[in-house]
Amino acid sequence: MPHATLLTGIGELVTFDPSHEGPLGVVRDAALLEVDGRVEWTGPAAAAPRSDADAVLDAGGAAVIPGFVDSHTHLVFGGDRAAEFEARMAGRPYSAGGIRSTVAATREASDEVLRARLARFVIELRAQGTTTFEIKSGYGLTVPDEERILRLAGEVTPETTFLGAHVVPAEYADDPEAYVELVTGAMLDACAPHARWIDVFCETGAFTVEQSRRILTAGAERGLGVRVHASQLGPGDGVALAVELDAASVDHGTYLTDADVALLAGSDTVATLLPGVEFSTRHPYPDARGLIDAGVRVALASDCNPGSSFTSSMPFCIAVAVRDMDMTVPEAVRAATLGGAEALRRDDVGHLRPGARADYVVLDAPTYVHLAYRPGVPLVASTHVA
Ligand code: NIG
Ligand code: FE
Repeated sequence: MPHATLLTGIGELVTFDPSHEGPLGVVRDAALLEVDGRVEWTGPAAAAPRSDADAVLDAGGAAVIPGFVDSHTHLVFGGDRAAEFEARMAGRPYSAGGIRSTVAATREASDEVLRARLARFVIELRAQGTTTFEIKSGYGLTVPDEERILRLAGEVTPETTFLGAHVVPAEYADDPEAYVELVTGAMLDACAPHARWIDVFCETGAFTVEQSRRILTAGAERGLGVRVHASQLGPGDGVALAVELDAASVDHGTYLTDADVALLAGSDTVATLLPGVEFSTRHPYPDARGLIDAGVRVALASDCNPGSSFTSSMPFCIAVAVRDMDMTVPEAVRAATLGGAEALRRDDVGHLRPGARADYVVLDAPTYVHLAYRPGVPLVASTHVA
């Protein structure tokens, strides 16, 4: 027997259904019918198919939005880098070299420690309205460590990404090519069965565009989808490579050129912006306005990691994107939900159209606008994961 729940009394429902109002597909005084974990119907509460429901819940006039889709995190790691952050806020620049200290702490941590930490992060994500999240490896950088990070990540999400090419580990500092051989050989063999995606940090100080192409192509040949970290610390050719390889997403984009924006506009690659990184490294914010005006699809994600952005809060990312990246509130809410789903090439999450997973957030607010209007305030009343 199917199970149907009617959530009614919704003051403002964001669906992204084009048959409802505006770009967010808003319904006021709304209801949502969920059948067996999927959205069956949304519309005005007065027109709700009440007799179909086994249970009726009342949202009490609150706003309801799709669960956030955080398409970029690095949640499996040991230690933290509070001292590095403190020094940065006192004037030291951010350096990708800090990644190696987390690699050392992660290698030392037991599975039990990493798993317990991850469980706490999942609680933290849910409490802030995130219902779908991606997790990258990249703090192991040996075959067994990368493999176990992906195995642990796979216990909490299907969106797992092999990032063996995060940086060249210290033991390969004199022979980075040998490390690229390892990543495209034995490490990929061990990790591909546990990953849906492959990613590379294509940046000066990490991997060159040629190395990145080899690594991403090897992953794609094993059936992994492609994602790229690019143009975080300076301009480079990573965006062009992402477009060349039809990456689902190119992430960071802090230092995009006009040519990058034009390439993205003519592609299916989403630009995933990570405002927590600029906030926490004092780099300039990416040009969200230029991307959106050029027709590029934009996602917002937390990039939660111990070095460049230790926030797991999508409401925080929305507030910063609106305040400091010239995004409108609807654009930021879209980027944090539907945009994240596009960056993961998922059509079942990030919206509440009929057929979607019934993953939604009840806000302690009358409208989604409060997500940017009330920064830092815990506005998630409850998170529903189908
Ligand atoms: O996405 N850019 C590379 N990797 C992470 C930073 C990791 C770290 O500093 O530990 C990022 O920002
Ligand atoms: Fe990252």
